[in-house]
Amino acid sequence: MKVHLKTMGCQMNVLDSEILRSLLASSGMEMTDDAHAADVLLYNTCSVREQAENKVHSHLGRACGKKADGRGVIIGVLGCMAQRLGPELVKRHRGVDIVAGPGQLGRLVELIQLVADGGGPQIAMDPPRPEIKTDDKIEFFDHKRDPNRCHLPGQAYVRIMRGCDKFCAYCIVPYVRGPERSRPADDIIEEVRRLVDAGVTQVTLLGQTVNSYRSGGVGLADLMERLDGLAGLKRIRFVTSYPGDFDHAIFQAMRSLPKVCEYLHIPAQSGSDNMLRAMGRRYSRGEYDDLIAVARQTVPGIAIVGDFIVGFPGEAEEDHAASADLIRQSGYKNSFIFKYSPRPGTTGAKRLADDIPEDVKRRRNRELLAVQQEVSLADNRAMIGQTAEILVEGPSPRADKQPNSQNQLVGRTRTDHIVVFDGAENLAGQYADVKITNATALTLFGELNE
Ligand code: 5AD
Ligand code: SF4
Repeated sequence: MKVHLKTMGCQMNVLDSEILRSLLASSGMEMTDDAHAADVLLYNTCSVREQAENKVHSHLGRACGKKADGRGVIIGVLGCMAQRLGPELVKRHRGVDIVAGPGQLGRLVELIQLVADGGGPQIAMDPPRPEIKTDDKIEFFDHKRDPNRCHLPGQAYVRIMRGCDKFCAYCIVPYVRGPERSRPADDIIEEVRRLVDAGVTQVTLLGQTVNSYRSGGVGLADLMERLDGLAGLKRIRFVTSYPGDFDHAIFQAMRSLPKVCEYLHIPAQSGSDNMLRAMGRRYSRGEYDDLIAVARQTVPGIAIVGDFIVGFPGEAEEDHAASADLIRQSGYKNSFIFKYSPRPGTTGAKRLADDIPEDVKRRRNRELLAVQQEVSLADNRAMIGQTAEILVEGPSPRADKQPNSQNQLVGRTRTDHIVVFDGAENLAGQYADVKITNATALTLFGELNE
C-alpha cells in the first residue's frame, strides 16, 4: 500500500509524522509524496485556530469527493482535530475511514488494516482528561522511531513531555493533548544516544510547556546537563517555554553548558496585564519583563522569541499598545503573531464574546508585525561583520529564483537566525563558519569562511 501523509501544525505534529513514517515503513507500506498515487491519505491535523481546521475540511471535501467517483482510497484524520471532533468528522465527510487522536497513533497500522479488511470506519480517540493517568507510559510511541529518519539532515525533535495543564482561556491544547506527562530522563537520554549514533548532532526537546518538565526529581536543567555529556551531540534546544514558574536554573544551564543553544521561545501572548488576566496567564507584565531581564543578564547573546495574540475579547487600543511596547522592550529576534480565533469548549469561547471585529484584528496584527520587523531588522543588522557557526539545512528554497546563484544554502546559527550563503550541497547536515555580510528583517546573508 502507498501512503501519503500531510502534516499541519506544530513541531509535535512534525515529530509524530516522522515516527508514523517509521512505523508505516516498517510494516511494509510505502510512503509517497504524490497524493494522487496514494492508496491511503492521512492528515495529521491542528486545532489551534479555526483556519487550520478549515484547511483540513477543504482537503477532506476534495478527497472524499474523488472517492465518490469510485476510487477506494482510505482516508484518515489524525492528531488534534481528530481528538476534538471525533465521530463528527465521519458524519461531515462521508468517506473518512480513520479518526485517530494524538495518543492513538501507535495503532495506526492496525486501524488501516481493519479498514482495508472491510471493517468500516475506525474511530480511535484518547480517553477524556480525567481518565488519562499522569504516569502513563508516554514514551511507547516514541520508541517506534527510526533514528535514521530526520526532518532535516542531522536534526531531530525529541518529545520530553506530552499535554498541558495551564488552561489558558483561548487554548484548545489541554483538551486535545491531555494532561501534562513527563517522560523518564533515562528514556530520553537513550533515544538521544540512538539518534547521535545515527548521525544526529542537534536535538530540539519538545513540550507544550517544556520548562515544566519534571520526572523522578529531574527537571529540564538537570536533563540538559546529562544530555550535554553525550559525545557527538553538538546542539541542544528546547521549545516552548511558559513564562510562569520559570526555574532560573534553566538559564544557568544555557550559560554554562556548551551544547545548550542561546535560544528561548517564551510566548508572552500580550503585553497588557488586563489581557494576561483575561487570558488566564499566570504572570503579570512586570514578572515577564523581570524574567526577560534575568535571561539577558544570565545568558550573553541570548535570542528571545515571542508569540502574541491580537484581538482577544475586550482588547482595548491601550492593551494593544502595551503589546507593541513589549515587542520593542524585549528585543525579540522574531515573534509569531496570531489573530484570536475562538475555539469551542475553551473558557474564552464559553464565557467571552469574540467582540473585536475582524478588520481591527487584521490591523493590530499588521501593526505588531511592523514593530517586530523593525526590531528584527536592527537585531539582524547588528550581526553584520560577525562570523557565526551555521548548521546547514540544505539548498535554500529560494535558490531556484536566483539564477546566478546555483548553490544557495540555508542554515541556522545557535540562536536560530536563518542564514543564506553559497556553498556545496553536500554541506547539508554539516557545520560551517559563515561571515554575515547583509541582513533583512527575516534573513541574514553571508559568505562561507574558507
Ligand atoms: N487563537 C489564536 N492564536 C492562538 N494560539 C493558541 N490558541 C490560539 C487561538 N485560539 C497561538 C498562541 C500560541 C501559538 C501556538 O498559537 O500564541 O502560543
Ligand atoms: Fe496545533 Fe496545538 Fe495540536 Fe500542535 S498541539 S497540532 S499547535 S493544536
